[in-house]
Amino acid sequence: MNTGAPLLGVLGHPIGHSQSPTLFADILKRAGRTEISYRAFDLPDIQHFPDLVAQHPNLAGLNVTVPHKRSILPILSDLSEAAQALGAVNTLVRQGDGWVGHNTDVWGFQRSIQPFLANRHERALVLGTGGSAAAVHHVLASLGIDALGVSRQGNSTAGTVAYGRPALGYDELNAFVLKHHLLVVHCTPVGMHPQDHEMVPFPTSFLTPDHLVVDLIYNPAETRLLKEAKRQGAHALNGADMLRLQAEKAWEIWSQSGI
Ligand SMILES: NC(=O)c1ccc[n+]([C@@H]2O[C@H](COP(=O)([O-])OP(=O)(O)OC[C@H]3O[C@@H](n4cnc5c(N)ncnc54)[C@H](OP(=O)(O)O)[C@@H]3O)[C@@H](O)[C@H]2O)c1
Repeated sequence: MNTGAPLLGVLGHPIGHSQSPTLFADILKRAGRTEISYRAFDLPDIQHFPDLVAQHPNLAGLNVTVPHKRSILPILSDLSEAAQALGAVNTLVRQGDGWVGHNTDVWGFQRSIQPFLANRHERALVLGTGGSAAAVHHVLASLGIDALGVSRQGNSTAGTVAYGRPALGYDELNAFVLKHHLLVVHCTPVGMHPQDHEMVPFPTSFLTPDHLVVDLIYNPAETRLLKEAKRQGAHALNGADMLRLQAEKAWEIWSQSGI
């Protein structure tokens, strides 16, 4: 039974770095819903999810982050179409005794890149084969952009098979490949704070002013990959807009659920 004002939060491990509590404090303030609290829940083992829910009967919605975006699926009672297609969630809504999973990363990524896309961005390279890369592949396919994965394992990764598409190894990226792929989306954690100086082995010297390079990382605001891309004259976009947009979509889902 729910008691008291609704509680929202973000579930992950580790969770100390999450920007979600700050983002949602702002969203809730703007919505005039300051009676709602938003907390970070550090949950190392997803098997303890029912205990967390039992401890917080007023928990009405959750964001889900690494490492639980996929492992939480068996616990959920229903999935949105995007979450079902990706096999990953980042937003949960309580519905009776169950939880419904959504994926607002898809919405956030699509809305964040759309203003920067031009006709020439008809083929893309997607670096990394994890959960965020799956969301990016899903969006690019829906936009009719032909995407090729790039993986440390080349064409042999499980992630690649899941997208049903071939992948390249980083050592196969050359001037020809880059000339024919003018959109590059970086979906690995390499270069995230505090490893700001790190970068995947991507040959930035082949980038040109025709390229759009998107890095899903938002901290630092300008990764080494984006710095090098800008030096080549490429257009560079970080993950801050995607982060804000996926959070706003999560709030829309929660508020429409009657919170
Ligand atoms: N802006 C936003 O709203 C937003 C949303 C979601 C995620 N993100 C960011 O996107 C990044 C990726 O998230 P994720 O959940 O997809 O991460 P993930 O599942 O942990 O990793 C993604 C992929 O990165 C590659 N990778 C991992 N470590 C690597 C290394 N040392 N060198 C090269 N490649 C490596 C791996 O692919 P291979 O093994 O195939 O190479 C892995 O499958 C994170 O920085 C996250 O913060 C941002």
